[in-house]
Amino acid sequence: MSSPIESVLQEQRLFYPSLEFSAQAKIGSLEQYHQLYRQAEADPVKFWSDLATQELDWFDRWHTTLDWQPPLVKWFDGGKLNISYNCLDRHLLTWRRNKAALIWEGEPGDSRTYTYAQLHREVCLFANVLKQLGVQKGDVVGIYLPMIPEAAIAMLACARIGAPHSVVFGGFSAEALRDRLNDGKAKLVITADGGWRKDAIVPLKDQVDIALTHVPTVENVLVVQRTGQKIQMLPGRDHWWHDLKQGVNADCPAEPMASEDILFILYTSGSTGKPKGVVHTTAGYNLYTHITTQWIFDLKDTDVYWCTADVGWITGHSYIVYGPLSNGATTLMYEGAPRPSNPGCTWEIIEKHGVNIFYTAPTAIRSFIKQGEHLPKARDLSSLRLLGTVGEPINPEAWMWYYRIIGQERCPIVDTWWQTETGGIMISALPGAMATKPGSATLPFPGIIADVVDLEGNPVGVNEGGYLVIKHPFPSMMRTIYNDPDRFRSSYWEHIPPKEGQYFYFAGDGARKDEDGYFWVMGRVDDVINVAGHRLGTMEIESALVSHPAVAEAAVVGKPDEIKGEEICAFIILEGSQTANEELAQELKQHVVKEIGAIARPGEIKFTDALPKTRSGKIMRRLLRSLAAQQEITSDTSTLEDRSVLDKLREGA
Ligand code: PRX
Repeated sequence: MSSPIESVLQEQRLFYPSLEFSAQAKIGSLEQYHQLYRQAEADPVKFWSDLATQELDWFDRWHTTLDWQPPLVKWFDGGKLNISYNCLDRHLLTWRRNKAALIWEGEPGDSRTYTYAQLHREVCLFANVLKQLGVQKGDVVGIYLPMIPEAAIAMLACARIGAPHSVVFGGFSAEALRDRLNDGKAKLVITADGGWRKDAIVPLKDQVDIALTHVPTVENVLVVQRTGQKIQMLPGRDHWWHDLKQGVNADCPAEPMASEDILFILYTSGSTGKPKGVVHTTAGYNLYTHITTQWIFDLKDTDVYWCTADVGWITGHSYIVYGPLSNGATTLMYEGAPRPSNPGCTWEIIEKHGVNIFYTAPTAIRSFIKQGEHLPKARDLSSLRLLGTVGEPINPEAWMWYYRIIGQERCPIVDTWWQTETGGIMISALPGAMATKPGSATLPFPGIIADVVDLEGNPVGVNEGGYLVIKHPFPSMMRTIYNDPDRFRSSYWEHIPPKEGQYFYFAGDGARKDEDGYFWVMGRVDDVINVAGHRLGTMEIESALVSHPAVAEAAVVGKPDEIKGEEICAFIILEGSQTANEELAQELKQHVVKEIGAIARPGEIKFTDALPKTRSGKIMRRLLRSLAAQQEITSDTSTLEDRSVLDKLREGA
C-alpha cells in the first residue's frame, strides 16, 4: 500500500534568530543558504570538491570526486589523507597548538584539559602501544570504554594507524559486546577497569572477561585505569595502558589512508534481526562532519562546545570527536549522566566552563523538565549562544521549555535530523540563516537532496505525510553493512524502488514538508499506527498527550482491534504530583481529541513509572506493542537500558 502517513500536528510558531546572531554567523541569511543550496544542487561534484580542497589537508589529491554505482559510492577516489592528522597535527602548526582541544569532566568531580599539543602526544603514544601489541592497518579494534578522554584518544589512535574502530557503548551487556566483536573479528579490545555512571561504577572489564570467553579473534586487551576497583588481569592477554605507555616513544606519523579505507564500524539496531555494522570510510566522513559542525553549530574559535552524547553513538563519533577537532574547536566531554546525587550537574558544568554551544537529546530535555526549572535557574547560563537537539522528534512543549528556560529566548535551537547511517547531520537549521519552528528540523544541508515521497517515489503534496528519502549521494553516507552487502541493499535501497535512474535512500522515517519546505519528521514508519485506514505517526499523538499539564512523558503504540484494525494504546508517565485514576485517563483521551481530533483518541491509557528505552533514550515501541497486544516478547532486547521496566509494565497490565 502506498498510502502515506497522515499528519495531524498543528504548529504555527516561528522563531527568528536575533540580528546580532545572524550578523556574526557563518551563514547569516536565508538568501546565502539558498545560494549555497542551489550551487550544491547544480554541481555537487564541484561543491564537494571545492570544500574538500579548502577544508581538509591531503597527502595526495584524489582523481575522481564522485564514483556513483548505486547503491555503491566512492568519494575522492585516489586521494590520501588521515583524519587524525586533520584533527590534530595540522593545528599544531598554528596558534591552536596550545588551545584547549578537550575539556573533560569526570562524574566524581575530577577534571582534565588537553591542549592540541597534549592530545596529539597522547594519541601518538596510544597508537604506538597499539602497534606494539601487533595491531596493523586494517585490523579491527573494539573500544568499550566509559566517557573518559581515553575514549577519544583511542579512536584517534586507531584512525592514525589505519585500524578501523568499533566502539561499543559502555552500557551494553557482555552478550551485546561479544556479538559486535565477533562480527568485526576484532583483534584487540580497549577497555577500562570501570566507569562512573549515575553515581555507580559500571564494571566494564568484568563484562569484557565474560564476552571474551566466546570471541576467538581477540589477542590482547588494553586496560585503562579509571576507578581503581579490583579486576582480573589475564597474564599475556591483558595489559595496563599506563604500564605500556612508559615504554613507547611519542613519534608516530599518521598513516596515509586511501579516501575509501574504512574509518570505523558502528552497530545500530534494526527492529528485527541482529544489529547492523554500519561502515563509514575516511575522506567523505571527515569532510562532511567537518563542514556540518562548522556551519550548523556556527562554530567559532572562542567557543566551548558541549555535546552530551556518548562516544558509543554516532553523535559522539561525529560531533564530540571528529567534527569539532577537525575544526580546531574546544570540545567538552562529560563522563556520566545527570545523576541522583547532583541532578543539576549539567547546568553547573555549563556555568563552570562557560559553555557556548550545547547539544543534547529530547529525552534529556524531558528529564530536565521533570527535575524542575529551579535547577537551571540556580546557575548562570548566560554564556550559551546556541542550542541543539538530536535523536528523535522533539515535541513542541519540550522545544519551548528548552528555548525559554535554557536558551532564555536568546539562543537559536538547531533540531538536527540524521542517523548512524548518514554519518552527519542531514536536515537542520543553519542558525543564523533561517527561522525555526518548534518540532521541525527545518531545511536540508546544502548538498543534501531530501524529499518526502510515496512508495512509488513520487513527491507527496504539501503537508502530506510520506517517506523521508535522500535522492543524491553525499560524502558521509554509509558504504555498506559490514559482512552483509545484501542487507545493505534491501534495508535501505529497495523499500522505494529506483525509477528512471533515480535511487532513493530510505532509512525508515516518515515526514511531511510544509508550505515553506520545512521538514517535520514524524518518527519511524515501523511505529506507524493504522486506525480505521488512517496511518498516524506516533510522535504527533505523543506530543498532544505531553501538552497536557499532568503528563511528563508518553509513548503510543497500536494494538490489534477487530473493527478499526488497530486502536491506540498510550503509556503515560505522570508529572510527580499527579495521581493516576480513571477520571484522568478519560480527561487525557478527551485532550487528544481536542488537540488532534477524534481519529487519534486513545482506546486505552496505561499509567506507568518508566518506559522501555534504548541506552540512547529512544523508546522501544515494538516492545510496548507486544505488551499492549499481550504477546510474548520474542524480538531482540539487547539494547534495552533497564530490563526490569518490562516486568513492571507486565505487572501493571
Ligand atoms: O528516527 C530518526 C531519529 O533517530 C533515527 C536515527 O537514530 P540513530 O541512528 O541512533 O542516530 C541518532 C543520532 C543521529 C532517525 O532515523 N532522529 C534522529 N534525529 C532526529 C530524529 N527524529 C526526528 N528529529 C530529529 N532531529
